[in-house]
Amino acid sequence: MAKQLLGPFAEMVTMDHLPEKGPLLDERLEIIRDGGVIIEGDRILDVLDEERFKQVKALAEMKGSPLGHTPIRRKMVLLPGLIDCHTHICYAGSRAKEYSKRISGESYLQISERGGGIMSTVRSTRQATEEELASTLAERAFEHLLRGVTTCEVKSGYGLDLETEIKMLRAIRRVDGSIDPMPRLVPTCLAAHVRPPEFRTDQQYLDFLVSKLLPPVKREGLANRVDIYVDRGAFAPELADGYLFQAKNMGFTPVVHADQFVVGGAAVAARVGAISADHLERSTEREFKWLRDKGVVAVALPGSSLGLGDPFAPARHMLDAGLCVAIASDWNPGTAPMGGLLTQASLLSANQRLTAAETFAGLTIRAARALGLEDRGAIMTDHLADLIGFNCDSYEEILYRQGALSPSLIIKGGKRIMRAPGPTGG
Ligand code: NIG
Ligand code: FE
Repeated sequence: MAKQLLGPFAEMVTMDHLPEKGPLLDERLEIIRDGGVIIEGDRILDVLDEERFKQVKALAEMKGSPLGHTPIRRKMVLLPGLIDCHTHICYAGSRAKEYSKRISGESYLQISERGGGIMSTVRSTRQATEEELASTLAERAFEHLLRGVTTCEVKSGYGLDLETEIKMLRAIRRVDGSIDPMPRLVPTCLAAHVRPPEFRTDQQYLDFLVSKLLPPVKREGLANRVDIYVDRGAFAPELADGYLFQAKNMGFTPVVHADQFVVGGAAVAARVGAISADHLERSTEREFKWLRDKGVVAVALPGSSLGLGDPFAPARHMLDAGLCVAIASDWNPGTAPMGGLLTQASLLSANQRLTAAETFAGLTIRAARALGLEDRGAIMTDHLADLIGFNCDSYEEILYRQGALSPSLIIKGGKRIMRAPGPTGG
């Protein structure tokens, strides 16, 4: 397999050797100056400090060397590729009109009660073909890749019937497996988003999901994760417990949309031992303790707070309470239409006083934990060679620009991503 030396970088922020949870001072960051990485195939073979980089570079420059060298000529800061551990980017239709109503004063819940909100996207998504869903998903996922997101979770949840939920999950699989370049996609079944009008009670709908939808999802290997939206206007905590315990018994990993408008979901996540509890805008010390004791990752979603004009999740308290905090975009057609993960994380960090170390950990190594993935999120030997480089000379510049500085180098699985897709490259 071809080996490639890449560097020197002004800084490599490895995200290696960090505690899994709790507060992080910037001094904890491992920063390697003027070093580089050796990539073999899709993996990182070695991470080199300045001295070793110079030695290996000299070897690479010898005639007949099996090692290639890609020199980095401008000052560049290298980070692991970003991991967006919570999105809803597989959907059809737009809710721009609804957004206009919201900024004119109507609330998200009022709009939902009138049949808008999630149900409006459900109607469009039911009408779309699998090909149409795959094609708009691919556009959004590629946009995300250009922003530095090399792994992206994607939920179903706009079908709410057997056929459309399966169609969404198949569209996600199709984009993940066959279209390149794309971020690596991680599918999650969120059929328990809200109850569709075809069912009289929430319990009947959840029973239907357990008996009719989850078995084929498992059989076809369409998702290993099952999410439920626990909230006012969605599912009650007691029903969510039963649903997630059954999903867990079938071999799925539980995830919860928790405490966005009223508390209740974080308690479910702790009781069932979910891998993550996401949102947590309304959670308090009590919920944080439950999550910490059960090792549940807390996922802050600043994009939906920005979309709704609501306060951010109390990420500072979550870290101080000892939680592992990840930061994701929640990119969806309703509450979080922006998708700009780095902008959102920068604004969250300014508002909540998160250190750069906490913020970058939430976007990389701690986000990998939220997805149960151990082969990415840090620049270290054997990790996937998913790397992003910013044209600046120190990592502090990145959050300082609040998302306006995009990565100019994006490497996924050892391959450099060009900005324009298609045969001519960028
Ligand atoms: O995470 N809160 C529930 N679900 C999504 C919003 C989905 C939508 O409005 O379409 C969320 O914010
Ligand atoms: Fe969400």
